[in-house]
Amino acid sequence: MVGVCPFHSEKTPSFTVFPNSQNFFCFGCEAGGDVITFIMRSENLDYPDAVEFLAKRVGVEIPQNGDMPNKGMSRRRVYEMNLEAARFFRACLFDENIGRAGMHYLAEQRKLPLPIIKHFGLGYAPADFGALISVLKKKGYTDAEMKEAFLCGISQKTGRPYDYFRNRVIFPIIDTTGNVVAFGGRVLDDSKPKYLNTSDTPGFKKGRTLFALNYAKNHCSDELILCEGYMDVVALHAAGFENAVATLGTALTPDQARIISKYTQRVVLCYDSDEAGQRATARALQIFADVGVEVRVLQMHGAKDPDEYIKKFGRDKFAGLLKQSRSGFDFKLSGVLSRHDVTLPEEKIRAANELCDIISRVYSTAEREIYIDEVARRLSLSKESLTMDVERMRRRHYKEKKQAEMKQAQVTAMSVGDRINPEAASSVQAAAAENAIIGLLLMYEEHRLAVQRGTVELSEADFFTDFSRRAFVEIMKLQSSDGGFMFSLLGESFSADEMGRLTRLEQARRALTENSTAVLRTSIEALRTEKNRITAKSADPISGIEQLLAAKRKK
Ligand code: UTP
Ligand code: MN
Repeated sequence: MVGVCPFHSEKTPSFTVFPNSQNFFCFGCEAGGDVITFIMRSENLDYPDAVEFLAKRVGVEIPQNGDMPNKGMSRRRVYEMNLEAARFFRACLFDENIGRAGMHYLAEQRKLPLPIIKHFGLGYAPADFGALISVLKKKGYTDAEMKEAFLCGISQKTGRPYDYFRNRVIFPIIDTTGNVVAFGGRVLDDSKPKYLNTSDTPGFKKGRTLFALNYAKNHCSDELILCEGYMDVVALHAAGFENAVATLGTALTPDQARIISKYTQRVVLCYDSDEAGQRATARALQIFADVGVEVRVLQMHGAKDPDEYIKKFGRDKFAGLLKQSRSGFDFKLSGVLSRHDVTLPEEKIRAANELCDIISRVYSTAEREIYIDEVARRLSLSKESLTMDVERMRRRHYKEKKQAEMKQAQVTAMSVGDRINPEAASSVQAAAAENAIIGLLLMYEEHRLAVQRGTVELSEADFFTDFSRRAFVEIMKLQSSDGGFMFSLLGESFSADEMGRLTRLEQARRALTENSTAVLRTSIEALRTEKNRITAKSADPISGIEQLLAAKRKK
């Protein structure tokens, strides 16, 4: 079964699910694995959490103190700790003494109504180096855990922990399932940095999270408003635009665009009206084009951002702007027209070229036709000549794309730049033999048994690359464990990317008809020969000579 890949941006499907072997592989980005790897990737979970996620879905209880390996703190514990922290920050904000400055800032200076402050769970971190730490300690969290969740830092001088967020109003960041995953904290004045944010952890990736999507997700099926700042979102929700979200202080990522595309038909970009905001708009248009979401661009005059605009001109005026928002193409069109004086013939040609180039990258034929009409009208040029130019450019882009793909394929074939198995590059033959061996072992119990019982001789030492050796060791470990071999269990020892590679090796074998023990033996033989050849070649000359002498003496 083939479909558009959920892990990279594409229009031609290359994501393949193999129902027989119960796994998937994307020929575009090489993501692959089984259902657990899929969940690890799509939900950004580690192995134990992915298992738990799936178990929950089918109603299976996983014992908590089972023998799941525990690397560092579990994600659930981070979320529980964050929730405690959010409660603490909120209590501080609503405390008449401790929270006075924070409440004054939010309610008076930023004019946020109390119900909105409560709705977003906003809080205040007191100007104290140990307030949160002492609360979390009482709840049983260790310094190391607080540090891992970015709730405290450790002083280099004294080695003692200190609260990370101090004297800041706090915006909890909540994921779509309701976990508090991170915090943003704003200073109350003009000091720098204006915002502090939780850094990326295994349980939290800025580039895959959107502020307020947990609230907006039920209000945005037609249209979603994307803006830059926490404050913009809060102000928009307060004004009744509950479909607003923001990125977390970074430019929009393709991951975020894909997440957004799951929730809405159309995005209205509402970035700041400064130059940085306009540049970010142009970039976001391209990113959304790749995931196929309709985008409109809202233009504000007389205010820097939506928060300021609504304060100055009111919600109705903003609703008017939303209605007048322009298509992404319109935005680019006026960008080009503002850069060229089209009354001069040369400038007009340049503008037409730039616009044809933009149009030539549009996927839909109908859309291209509409844009060509528009440009023909604005520049008083004939539709026919514009269409010809656009088609010529489309052919050129197509050729360039194909060439780039070819080059990529060659690079992959030569295993150059193979991140997962970097050593494969130094011997194509050894790597090919190893790939066959691992593929065969993954595919048939018969082969694993043969190796386990010693009917086929194969050991760790036979392998050339570290990746294949690890794969061999783990496969055989599972084979001789009580539960026996199961592909899924490899997910404990291999990353999602590595699982993709293992899936590909297995699928590659499945595509072939000859997979008998004879093939396994031949591959092992080929691997040994190739390995010997390499070792002989690279052995240092002195020890090589010594070996020869030793051999002679024996004779
Ligand atoms: P802005 O500087 O536009 O701030 O940054 P803002 O949202 O308008 O905030 P106010 O109105 O001054 O309170 C936009 C976003 O960029 C991130 C934050 O997510 C912020 O909301 N940012 C900004 C940071 O993460 N760190 C900073 O120091 C500044
Ligand atoms: Mn602002």
